[in-house]
Amino acid sequence: MKLTLRVWRQTGPQARGDFVTYQVDGANEEMSFVELLDLLNERLIAQSSEPIAFESDCREGICGACGLMINGQAHGPQRGTATCQLHLRRFQDGDEIVVEPFRSAGFPLVKDLVVDRSALDRIVQSGGYITAPTGSAPDANLIPVPKDDADRAMDAAACIGCGACVAACPNGAGQLFTAAKLAHLNLLPQGQPERARRTVAMVDTMEEYFGSCTNHQECEAACPKEIGIDFIAMLNRDYRKARRRR
Ligand code: SF4
Ligand code: FES
Repeated sequence: MKLTLRVWRQTGPQARGDFVTYQVDGANEEMSFVELLDLLNERLIAQSSEPIAFESDCREGICGACGLMINGQAHGPQRGTATCQLHLRRFQDGDEIVVEPFRSAGFPLVKDLVVDRSALDRIVQSGGYITAPTGSAPDANLIPVPKDDADRAMDAAACIGCGACVAACPNGAGQLFTAAKLAHLNLLPQGQPERARRTVAMVDTMEEYFGSCTNHQECEAACPKEIGIDFIAMLNRDYRKARRRR
């Protein structure tokens, strides 16, 4: 395959950025999108040019490090797929592909395709945990959990913290991420004692960094784990209840 990549290059947060065009031949349809960037970087290094900065780690859709805007879509054109799982078979030989970082006021640019997503960590730090001493691992069936609640908690726990929901949202809202991180604790018995405190702390922290949800639903469409916006409805209900209680 021969592809033309228009890649956002920016040497640092204060520098002026621009698109740079690269022709990449020798790619094949079994390659993932991050392997395409590896191939391009190997060639740039061989020419003594600066390689493109981008993030990846697990390369199997687990860690959330690899988010990119590909032709204007967070994680590219395939639903339910992280950038590292997107294969070149989704593209045609000769295609031109535009590659940009996740753009949002809450994600300041670091370099090229790398953005600082630590605002997501700060939301989790503010309450996304259980403080009760748990001791050693209990038997799995010691605390009965209704099947529907267990399934929904597992769906929410699938969030990999990639930030695609924020990048896809016209408001730069962090609701889907925050809702997922709240729901996987708030749905389970172990999460009940701190439910109200956790909800208020995480939503208030979210509002320091991100915009507000106005139901565009772009977050749900972009999420590589297909987390639904019904979790945002749960976040709103929990937040209203917790505020009233306070
Ligand atoms: S909710 Fe989905 S899109 Fe948002 S951070 Fe989690 S996995 Fe990524
Ligand atoms: S590199 Fe870990 S999710 Fe893509």
